[in-house]
Amino acid sequence: MNKSWWQEAVVYQVYPRSFQDTNGDGIGDLQGIIKHLDYIKKLGVDVIWLNPIYSSPNDDNGYDISDYRNIMTEFGTMADFNQLLKTIHEHGLKLMMDLVVNHTSDENAWFVEAKRSVNNKYHDFYLWRDGKDGKAPNNWQSEFSGSAWQYVPSVNQYYLHLFTKKQADLNWDNSDVRHEIFDLMNWWCDKGIDGFRMDVINLISKDPAFPDDPNLKGEVHGSSMTMAANGPHVHEYLKEMYKEVLSKHDLITVGETPGASTADAIKYTGFNSHELEMVFQFEHMGVDISPTMGKWTDRPFKLVDLKRIMSRWQTELNGKAWNSLYWNNHDQPRVVSRFGNDAAEYRELSAKMLGNCLHMMQGTPYIYQGEEIGMTNVGFPKISDYHDVETLNAYKELVQDKHSVTDGQMMRYIHKHSRDNARTPMQWNDEPNAGFTAGEPWIDVNPNYDQINVANALADPNSVFYFYQKLNQLRKQYSIIVYGDYELIEPEDEQVYMYWRHLDGQKLLVVSNFTDQTLRRSIIQRRGTGHMLISNYQNDSGDQLRPYESRTYLIN
Ligand code: GLC
Ligand code: CA
Repeated sequence: MNKSWWQEAVVYQVYPRSFQDTNGDGIGDLQGIIKHLDYIKKLGVDVIWLNPIYSSPNDDNGYDISDYRNIMTEFGTMADFNQLLKTIHEHGLKLMMDLVVNHTSDENAWFVEAKRSVNNKYHDFYLWRDGKDGKAPNNWQSEFSGSAWQYVPSVNQYYLHLFTKKQADLNWDNSDVRHEIFDLMNWWCDKGIDGFRMDVINLISKDPAFPDDPNLKGEVHGSSMTMAANGPHVHEYLKEMYKEVLSKHDLITVGETPGASTADAIKYTGFNSHELEMVFQFEHMGVDISPTMGKWTDRPFKLVDLKRIMSRWQTELNGKAWNSLYWNNHDQPRVVSRFGNDAAEYRELSAKMLGNCLHMMQGTPYIYQGEEIGMTNVGFPKISDYHDVETLNAYKELVQDKHSVTDGQMMRYIHKHSRDNARTPMQWNDEPNAGFTAGEPWIDVNPNYDQINVANALADPNSVFYFYQKLNQLRKQYSIIVYGDYELIEPEDEQVYMYWRHLDGQKLLVVSNFTDQTLRRSIIQRRGTGHMLISNYQNDSGDQLRPYESRTYLIN
């Protein structure tokens, strides 16, 4: 098997807007990240992934870039960035940048030119089509509600936007577009960054015929993203990117790939693919999603589904490609509220259980800010407390325009799935606004910050923080955690997630009780000789698993 530093690394994701404000404007900034590098280092991670920090009008919090070679005013200056990069490296950490090149902001200079006239050189940088009978060119729905097409009178055409109408999709079939993108990537690499997380990178190649989306059959809340996923030239363009950029630098790369199967992932990241190193797959994030309502549901998840999906990715990529391991990011609800139990009694236990269950798998783990202290979902009472454009658009669509659900139902779904669950400010201490800002935070702090915060976590040797720190240490110590083969035990067990890892005659047994019941599983007694590496309880109770108990044994 190939062995590379990024396979042995752990990545910590920072959402700069919500991490630490240092100038009192209520918005996190680059100086705020510098301030907490010792904290991140203490957790024992290797790489920091930053959500987009480029100039942006922030229609979608930086995923709408107006200038790829500048820093967002609210976050600081290029001098701050240079200082951040230097300080990250001084800490022995690496920096992974977000790369958003499926689309740009409509305020990007390219788009401003593009809409001037069909003869403008930049017009073809985007995906324009004539209307059909005075309507949009096809039936595609944007990911954030409504048609995926926007009409522009000055050119009498529609442009495609898979996300908001301020996020215009680039035309990757134009080689000038590709070269502009490769240039800006090389420009950042020459500054010394260490990697890219590539936003929705499997959507870059669209079928130029733009056929209607046959899957839209009267769903209440539809999306046509799959129509653009894994398109005709995507592998050709990524191989070109590899040749022009990635192969010239020693980088960690991960592509966000909604709708990618394991077979797709092997094409993108196979050890000899010359494309990417990892993908962020979404199948396991679909276990509590509705076929007709998307994430606007309160459907519970089944552990057997989660196990089946995780296990398929573990076994099908084994030896061929490399998994990313994640429960959380800036688009997902907090995992302790989602797959664990955020009631006071069980929050820390289940947060640790989820950490052990995921981090003992094969792949590179990603930790999202606050996950390491067991931060929870927030239940803001009113829609006006929310900021996320996806949430606001969906509320308008489903409650106000279509009357598909009531305000009360929708707020319940929002409490479960809104992206703002992940975006409330980092909880540093029990001072006003959780120590995030001395001003008014851009989004309210989760009121539970008086209990759940970094200061408390650092003061308590049994905290979720130190459990994650230990997971990171174990990964450095035992190569079986990084490289071992994976084998699921009892796929139909609805309460406990158990698996083996195997490497060179060694074994790991990982058992995780996903319930608040005390259960018995005899495999624990039959495992063979060895010792326990980590557990979220103080003592080993043999074959008895207490609520949310999770253990890893090393067997020689
Ligand atoms: C990705 C990002 C998400 C963003 C979208 C459009 O899914 O993670 O935050 O809204 O792409 O760029
Ligand atoms: Ca600030």
